[in-house]
Amino acid sequence: MSAFFLILRLGALLFWLGAGVLIVSSLSESAFGVWFGASLGVVCWFLMDCRAIAQTLRWLYWLQENPQLAPPPLRGFWLEIISSVQRPLRQQIRRGQEVENNLKNLQSALQASPNGVIVLDEKNCIEWFNQTASHHLGLKPVRDILQPIHHLLRSPLFSDYLDNRDFDKPLELESPASTPAHPLKLSIWLHAYASNRRLMLTQDITSQQQTEIMRRDFVANVSHEIRTPLTVLIGFIETLQTLPPDETQQKYYLTMMERQAKRMQHLVSDLITLSHLENSPPPDFQEWTSVRDLLNQCETDAYALSQTLTQNMDAPPHQIIFPAVPEHARLAGSEKELFSLFTNLVFNAVRYTPPGGRIEISWTSLPEGDAIFSVKDSGPGITAEHIPRLTERFYRIDRSRSHETGGTGLGLSIVKHILIRHNAALSIESIPGHGARFTVQFPASHYRTASQDEATVTPV
Ligand SMILES: Nc1ncnc2c1ncn2[C@@H]1O[C@H](COP(=O)(O)OP(=O)(O)OP(=O)(O)O)[C@@H](O)[C@H]1O
Ligand SMILES: [Mg+2]
Repeated sequence: MSAFFLILRLGALLFWLGAGVLIVSSLSESAFGVWFGASLGVVCWFLMDCRAIAQTLRWLYWLQENPQLAPPPLRGFWLEIISSVQRPLRQQIRRGQEVENNLKNLQSALQASPNGVIVLDEKNCIEWFNQTASHHLGLKPVRDILQPIHHLLRSPLFSDYLDNRDFDKPLELESPASTPAHPLKLSIWLHAYASNRRLMLTQDITSQQQTEIMRRDFVANVSHEIRTPLTVLIGFIETLQTLPPDETQQKYYLTMMERQAKRMQHLVSDLITLSHLENSPPPDFQEWTSVRDLLNQCETDAYALSQTLTQNMDAPPHQIIFPAVPEHARLAGSEKELFSLFTNLVFNAVRYTPPGGRIEISWTSLPEGDAIFSVKDSGPGITAEHIPRLTERFYRIDRSRSHETGGTGLGLSIVKHILIRHNAALSIESIPGHGARFTVQFPASHYRTASQDEATVTPV
């Protein structure tokens, strides 16, 4: 290769030398003219080379700024020099682009991760984090880069975790971005890599923890609800075993025992209903139930309940008013569930309204096709802080009163599930001391009356 370039350079030199000699000797035939021509050719060759060197150096200088810069229009030996610089440079640029693309893809993948990802350097300073991490820890993209992580996550637990360097298990921590309205509990897991660097992963475990708390509360509540009547039952059994009671006492004990047994039966039946509602497929919306039949049955049961509750107290029964419902009013969904929904609300009104109180049930068809079922009572009402919690399992405003009425606190929870399954919505209004109103709105797609063509209505 080098011999080839040597020949090229010699060829160029000879070309300029010969051209100088030829031009000058055509003007003068003296020996001096030949020498002068040869020298002129060499000088021209030298000047041309200097120009090529200058162009190449200028190109090399600007190449650092702009790797895509076009080379000077040179040929031969100089073109070879330019190509030998350009070839590895192009390869380097291509490799750089590949690395950049890979990095971008990796960053996009990490951005898409449902977990927070934070890259820490040897001094535990943040090098990079994804959006989820920013949301989990309240990090700001520009402000917090290169900040030590323990300055931003100021928790003694986290500092200990970081210092102990025992990263076998994750650490559960309250997020600094957590608020009472939006609690955020995190699982933080550090992984060491590349000698002394760390990758920090964060996972939102709020709902996981809430589910666990709910499960624990549920088990505790069920155990408590069963233990109370059981204790009472066992007490009566022991009394009956030790003291031979007279007939009146025996009757009394048996009545009390029956009440406690029914309480347990009520609880078990409500639990089975709840589990069925949670685990069974959606109701069949091709099944249409007569609203009038449902409310008629509900009316009979409500009067019976009022009678039972008031007759022992020798108090006047409730004044219960049911509406006149159009004959062809129909609701789509499970008849059993709809009946349970109506009776739960009406029975609550009867249970929590003092004897003689007024309970008014209404049924309204709205112009846009929705239907409204409402139960209004003249009972003690409900204070505002209890309203959002009424549909929670076992939630009772006054536990001792519920014990008297035999309530388990599952009724409105069952109502909530039935509403969800029938795409209906519940609203509760109350002025404490002036009663409460429970309103259920059924969507037009699940309700029809005589005015609609029954065959064409297909609820979703
Ligand atoms: N109409 C109402 N007026 C006042 N308080 C009510 C009314 N309806 C419900 N509540 C309150 O809401 C609580 C929850 O009601 P829910 O129906 O879920 O349970 P419960 O009636 O105690 O038991 P269950 O219905 O399972 O027999 C009741 O304990 C009661 O304190
Ligand atoms: Mg109830």
